[in-house]
Amino acid sequence: MEYTVKDAVRDAVTTGVKMIDQSGHRDTSSPIWPPVVVRKEQFDAESTRLGSLAQPQYGIRRALLVHPESTLNSFTPGIRVAIEVLNAGEETTPIAENGSSVSLCIAGRGQATINEEVVDFDTLDTWSTPNMAISKVINTGDERQVRLVFSDAPLLELLWARYVDDSYVPHRDDAYTRDPLADYVYNMPTGEGGIRTYQGLIDPEIVVQRPHIWRWQEVRSYLNAMRKEGLDQRASSIALLWNPATGRFNGTTNTLTAYMSGGQDPSWMPDRYRMARSHRHTVTAINYAIAGEWRTVVERHDIRWSPGDLVLTAPAWGIHANGSCDPEPYTFTVQDAALHAAMNTSLFQEYMSKSPILLGAQPGFRSGAEPEPNRVGA
Ligand SMILES: [Fe+2]
Repeated sequence: MEYTVKDAVRDAVTTGVKMIDQSGHRDTSSPIWPPVVVRKEQFDAESTRLGSLAQPQYGIRRALLVHPESTLNSFTPGIRVAIEVLNAGEETTPIAENGSSVSLCIAGRGQATINEEVVDFDTLDTWSTPNMAISKVINTGDERQVRLVFSDAPLLELLWARYVDDSYVPHRDDAYTRDPLADYVYNMPTGEGGIRTYQGLIDPEIVVQRPHIWRWQEVRSYLNAMRKEGLDQRASSIALLWNPATGRFNGTTNTLTAYMSGGQDPSWMPDRYRMARSHRHTVTAINYAIAGEWRTVVERHDIRWSPGDLVLTAPAWGIHANGSCDPEPYTFTVQDAALHAAMNTSLFQEYMSKSPILLGAQPGFRSGAEPEPNRVGA
């Protein structure tokens, strides 16, 4: 039979696909990334270098902190960490992207404009930038502004689905009405599943995402108003910076969950680290020390970290325990917890002698603290 152009086109798209024999292959859990530390001196040197450059394009003075295992310029497999610097009076060019980010100002002050909302921030304030928000940052102070920016961009790059647009204009249709069929569900007579419509597929229910800011002084007051005598100090020292639009997924954005932890520690004794229980989870954790001396024991590594250090304290499924030794320690944490919650993959093993629990799908843990809510403002 004659070999036609149509045959050639068919062969061009089929011959590149490999067939990998997995007969008898048993799937295995992922390996664990080694922990890493970025010291304050490295931050200081890099932010000084960024600040001394002739002003780069788009106002971006940025360095990425890249884990040696990463192929996506990321700090954990799914989280990118950038140091971003603006000198006094500088600002970035507005841009929109389909990822989301959490920013922590570690020096100076400034203003973020996120869509129509203006967020004034100071040192140690945290704020969120939602997906497809048009955002820019200004240094409104007299000193160099340094931010740590945590984003989910590597996930989108892994999916080859990252979208970045510096001239994005949100779609607006004043005549829009939602098709009632968008909410229609046909319940299967057997099998308990359902069928939804194409109208629902192309116009799902909207959850409006707005930027939020967690001001350091307010978060610090919260931490210090918490009851400290609980059995598990994590229950009396962790504040999850919650964006209400993420609901039960407990996010700061739809993928990232940030925390401030610490506060006055009445049990503090010199040279004694107050360590939490060793445990592990599929969620990864990055910590930035704000005050106090900290210690993490993770997969046989014993890491001491101090104010201004950034640590990968919990690679996914790495056994770890954190603790501090200071009368008033503080740390900032970012995890991919909201992503795992949305994927229903938050596997936690709080007690190493017991089976892991799929949080959100199975009954979780109790902290061992008093059953009533922590007292705030008292
Ligand atoms: Fe943990």
